[in-house]
Amino acid sequence: MSQPLSRSWQRSLASGLFAVLIISPCLGTGCSTFDSARLSSAEELQTQPLSPLPLRALAQQRRLQIGTAVQVKPLQQEAPYRQILAREFNQLTTENAMKFRVIHPEPDRYDFTDADQIVGFAQTHRMAVHGHPLVWYRTQPDWLTQGQWTRQTLMPVLKDHIRTVVRQYRGRVQSWDVVNEAIDDQGNLRDNLWLRVIGPEYIAIAFQEAHAADPKARLFYNDYGGEEVGKKSDAIYDLVKTLRDQGVPIHGVGLQMHKTIKRPLKFDRIHENFQRLQALELDVRITEMDVQIHGGQGNLTQKLHAQAQVYQKILKLCLNAPNCKALTVWGLSDQHSWIPEFFKRSDAPLLFDSVYQPKPAYNALKALLQ
Ligand code: G3I
Repeated sequence: MSQPLSRSWQRSLASGLFAVLIISPCLGTGCSTFDSARLSSAEELQTQPLSPLPLRALAQQRRLQIGTAVQVKPLQQEAPYRQILAREFNQLTTENAMKFRVIHPEPDRYDFTDADQIVGFAQTHRMAVHGHPLVWYRTQPDWLTQGQWTRQTLMPVLKDHIRTVVRQYRGRVQSWDVVNEAIDDQGNLRDNLWLRVIGPEYIAIAFQEAHAADPKARLFYNDYGGEEVGKKSDAIYDLVKTLRDQGVPIHGVGLQMHKTIKRPLKFDRIHENFQRLQALELDVRITEMDVQIHGGQGNLTQKLHAQAQVYQKILKLCLNAPNCKALTVWGLSDQHSWIPEFFKRSDAPLLFDSVYQPKPAYNALKALLQ
């Protein structure tokens, strides 16, 4: 793992004098204190003329992965979707294509069709791929959820699944959400098939299998609601620290960052969380960012502005944290977000609107990166 200071310096040197002026309070200190004054003034950056360069070129200069979750249907059917993906992002996450039900639909059959399309697209356009997720309690096939399992029969299923999927993409998928959402909202290990039948050690086993299948891949524990220091993130911290102490091959924590403008974020607590994970030598990725505007104050313009601020502040935190490697948004355009279907109401949580026009949030990220 690279040293905090050298990474901070590398990023800043690469991004030129302008960025040095903006970020310099963090240089040489590793950003050990949270600079809320600078964050609130980040808005000023939006008055600068926007660079004609796409996000990915600007992010590349800062050694940051800027990514989005990809769905197969629009990838196949919508030319603007493909164009914007390739132009703006240097990293893709498989939104659904690698979920257990999709990639392993029958006990003895794997189906790599969807995942291959996304990974192939990423290779063609020189993008990193983050595989999502190897072990999760949702989107599992009936043969798994309705099976009569014992520890002895389920263990080989877990191991075979991980080994097969990770080997299939060895060298083409650079990082994985190995275990997803294993902690519930009370901070306990979530009741799921794996825990019930195998026991808490399913988590360590999953990381060990993934590492054996591709020793070069970076392996993450991924969850929602654990961004700020608090009950849930404390539980995540304890889990990953224990894994680390046991020598389990885990390289970082994915913070999903599904947010809304309705509830203000405590950025200092997110910063604190980044720092304590850094002290464990763990990377951080913002893995599934979106910001709902439903229920926010003001008219649409004001809501989109508030949304842009949240995106920009999270990016700023990430840029200032030596261990933050990626910011991935959970979908390309508002048309492809999971939120309207899930909450049964419209929203506009992403960087591009439903006809692929860049939103203030897109401009805010660009303004900060340039
Ligand atoms: O593709 C089928 C379609 O053929 C069918 O007609 C339709 C009927 O409901 O379903 C479609 O599949 C849906 C799929 O999304 C594609 O849109 C599934 O029902 C639906 O359950 C699935 O939802 C996904 C959800 O995870 C569950 O897997 C969302 O797209 C996806 O954004 C969401 O992502 C999760 C992350 O994996 C983990 N973190 C939280 C995040 C948001 O819930």
